[in-house]
Amino acid sequence: MPKDTLSVTDNRTGKTYELPITHGTIRAMDLRQIKASDDDFGLMAYDPAFTNTAACVSRITFIDGDRGILRYRGYPIEQLAERSTYQETAYLLIHGELPTRQELESFQHAITYHTMVHENIRKFVDGFRYDAHPMGILTSTVAALSTFYTDAKDVMDAESRRIQIIRLIAKMPTLAAFAYRHRRGMPYVYPDNELSYTGNFLNMLFRMTEQRYKPNPIVEKALDVLLILHADHEQNCSTSAMRGVGSSLADPYSATAAACAALYGPLHGGANEAVVRMLREIGSVKSIAGHIERVKRGEGRLMGFGHRVYKNYDPRAKIIKRLAYEVFDAQGKNPLIDIALELEQIALSDPYFVERKLYPNVDFYSGIIYEAMGLPMDMFPALFALGRIAGWLAQWQELLEDKEQKIARPRQVYLGPDERRYVPLSERGHSERPLPG
Ligand code: ACO
Repeated sequence: MPKDTLSVTDNRTGKTYELPITHGTIRAMDLRQIKASDDDFGLMAYDPAFTNTAACVSRITFIDGDRGILRYRGYPIEQLAERSTYQETAYLLIHGELPTRQELESFQHAITYHTMVHENIRKFVDGFRYDAHPMGILTSTVAALSTFYTDAKDVMDAESRRIQIIRLIAKMPTLAAFAYRHRRGMPYVYPDNELSYTGNFLNMLFRMTEQRYKPNPIVEKALDVLLILHADHEQNCSTSAMRGVGSSLADPYSATAAACAALYGPLHGGANEAVVRMLREIGSVKSIAGHIERVKRGEGRLMGFGHRVYKNYDPRAKIIKRLAYEVFDAQGKNPLIDIALELEQIALSDPYFVERKLYPNVDFYSGIIYEAMGLPMDMFPALFALGRIAGWLAQWQELLEDKEQKIARPRQVYLGPDERRYVPLSERGHSERPLPG
């Protein structure tokens, strides 16, 4: 008998099956042959939140959640954060290798010269309410970009994909900055090609009446590192949305809008906003114990703690914690850091969190830094999206080049009623159920 197989005995029939094991997985389709009777559909795996199901083969990001390891294309996140730039990292994620100097310059040049958006996009942004959440604006306007680039539909064409990837990396900061300026009732600032990727983003956010915006180099660098740390995280909720929508061969702007929508949720990219709200609500170090007790009683979660994959300290949280102090030196300290540090310490020594392996995740400290940079809470998820766009696009491209992939279409276990006779309205009697509306 070959060694790399799984023997399964179906106790309903007494039959035994040999299922091949490849890369630590069995193929779910191999279960289909296991039938209780000839007319049985065949066995399926039930996995409501994909907690133990690999939906693709990927060569982009490696995570070992138990050991707290994160690597992009084999490079440890710590080394990329220390030695690379976001654009180099984006190139690495998308092309699989770190760029040569020439490749990097050409990539940077292409991105710099695609940062402008059509003036009609400005009008869309104008149409939003004065207090519209920037993430709602970003999600809608990135979807709207698909109507400007109809060539984007040609998703199986590598050259078309290349140009859409450049456009998306280039225009996401412009859209996010426009959303921010709209929210503040300030005139939009157009891109400045003399500045770096993050320097230009800060310019589009913060330029006032000065002739030329000069970004603070510490803030510029810190933002760049934050983008690197958020650039990819394998098959998370938003990346799965990108792949799911991309699998129908929708254009990448529409798929990115779906990914942004997924990221917006408080259990994903909205968590950094939720962390700052939570720290504000706690208000002082002396109220931490009470908050922890409420969480343990099941009254809400400790935001920024816990992760589906990391059952150890999130390596990104470690880097962000250090980065926070560099930003505080440049911008002044965010007082919430004291509450956060104490909260972390208390939680990490409390059996409830220890037993469940709940450690700070990337969002625990990122919001505190963003706030110190002068950004309002509702911009945080948009900043996450700016970093993650590189990963979404790398994953989208990998999906399209993967011959094994088809349109994503999960199965279900149907537990609803069997076939019923239709009851006409006149025979339905009086309802005990509460009336809608
Ligand atoms: N606070 C308190 N308890 C928690 C927390 C938390 N933050 N996270 C998990 N738990 C508890 C659960 O109540 C559960 O306890 P039980 O076994 O007694 O029922 C146990 O830990 C396991 O939790 P699950 O919900 O099964 O873990 P899952 O992997 O589904 O959830 C998630 C992961 C969504 C990140 C969760 O930890 C959470 O809600 N965290 C807070 C939100 C957050 O910070 N999200 C950002 C994630 S990182 C990112 O997206 C970039």
